[in-house]
Amino acid sequence: MSVLQEATNIFTISETKYSYHIHPKNGWGNDPNGLVFFHGRYHVFFQCNPFETNNKRIFWAHVSSEDLVTWRYEPFALAPDQEYDQDGCFSGSAIVSEGKLYLVYTGHKNNLVDYTETQRLAVSEDGIHFNKIETAIIANPPANNTHRFRDPKIWQTTDFYLVVGGESKEHLGQVHLYRSKTILGPWEYQDTIVKAGAKEGTMWECPDFFVIDNQRIGIISPKGLPTDKKHGFDSVYLKEENGQFEYVNTSIDAGLDFYAPQTFWDEQHQRRVLFGWFGLPEEQEKEAGNKQAGALTLPRQVRWINNKLCFPPIKEVEKLRIVAQKQVINQSELRIGNTIELHASGNYQAVMLGLLTNQASYKLTYYDKELTLIISDNRGDRVTTQKIEQLGELRLFLDKELTELYINGGEYVFSNKVAFNTSITLIQEGLEKVTLYPLKTSI
Ligand code: FRU
Repeated sequence: MSVLQEATNIFTISETKYSYHIHPKNGWGNDPNGLVFFHGRYHVFFQCNPFETNNKRIFWAHVSSEDLVTWRYEPFALAPDQEYDQDGCFSGSAIVSEGKLYLVYTGHKNNLVDYTETQRLAVSEDGIHFNKIETAIIANPPANNTHRFRDPKIWQTTDFYLVVGGESKEHLGQVHLYRSKTILGPWEYQDTIVKAGAKEGTMWECPDFFVIDNQRIGIISPKGLPTDKKHGFDSVYLKEENGQFEYVNTSIDAGLDFYAPQTFWDEQHQRRVLFGWFGLPEEQEKEAGNKQAGALTLPRQVRWINNKLCFPPIKEVEKLRIVAQKQVINQSELRIGNTIELHASGNYQAVMLGLLTNQASYKLTYYDKELTLIISDNRGDRVTTQKIEQLGELRLFLDKELTELYINGGEYVFSNKVAFNTSITLIQEGLEKVTLYPLKTSI
């Protein structure tokens, strides 16, 4: 039996773990890949090991949707079944060209001491079945790079371009730019467009470069940051100033379970949309005992407001609300379900909000212009804080153990997993009126 067939068989055993977040039916999920609109549907792929909850033998799992909210599982798009990608079809992106859908990804192959990473293409006529193209489009990293060379993000103006993440021989993150007249190549190295400073990460994963409201931005996911926070991983952005990319040391998501986001230009709605991995390397590995680990965040719009990137959930997310069961509450304590959206807006000075079960808790406080989240569960206690000048809006999405908090229309976002197990008690002070919506199941 082929490895693809084996994976497909396993994936039919369905126990949907989350209600409306994209996730693998079985095994492990990480980065979003290949975000694209093709043949009337949105396609989202993600890194997935269907066999075990670890990130060996990575496939590209595939879901599709008409509206970015209701998802349908599709067959696996890529399986690690060739010599050059036998240890993983690693992250990458998608592009439509001359009526075909192309995936560009990293073939990952382990060697005795290190590994080999090459940039690869696969092509599809129907958006469901993909054929790999035998020859690598980029077979070797540039001279100033180690073997860590992955995660191509492609786009087209007239020519085709792609960026690849890497690590310099001095062990600092960097991003390389390539160009080609045709999608099949030859792909030519143009430049190493940006390099990390001493404390900005040893390797930059998942680069994504685009222009938004005339501002050139690069999203990167550095690893090897000199901090214990998030195990030294983070996702931040670079901002172009006078032709140079400047490292902006602000997390794309201030939560503790977020990494490796990717964006795409949504031509249908003239907007840029981002999905992130709802998880973090090393942290998600603690879930290895479970049958399933990992999800993607809700789709977020990327906006450039007051010289800052913001990430509100896309409008369509409101379609998840079961409006007939909407509740407006003002009491300080209430039993709630575990698939809800909580919404409050005002001009808050001091707030306390807690979601409590007998084994896990999520406690938010806002006081003295600082928001603090304290999470306690079987993974221990975790704390994250964020200075917030003014607290005007709070939207919290709960999907079983996934908590996704949006402050001030996406000015700050916090993605955190909390291992809630039993029914949840909500306590609050200072929010006055809170609207609660139970949410539909959409995957
Ligand atoms: C980021 C990452 C990528 C790689 C993929 C492997 O989380 O490490 O750099 O392509 O995951 O699954």
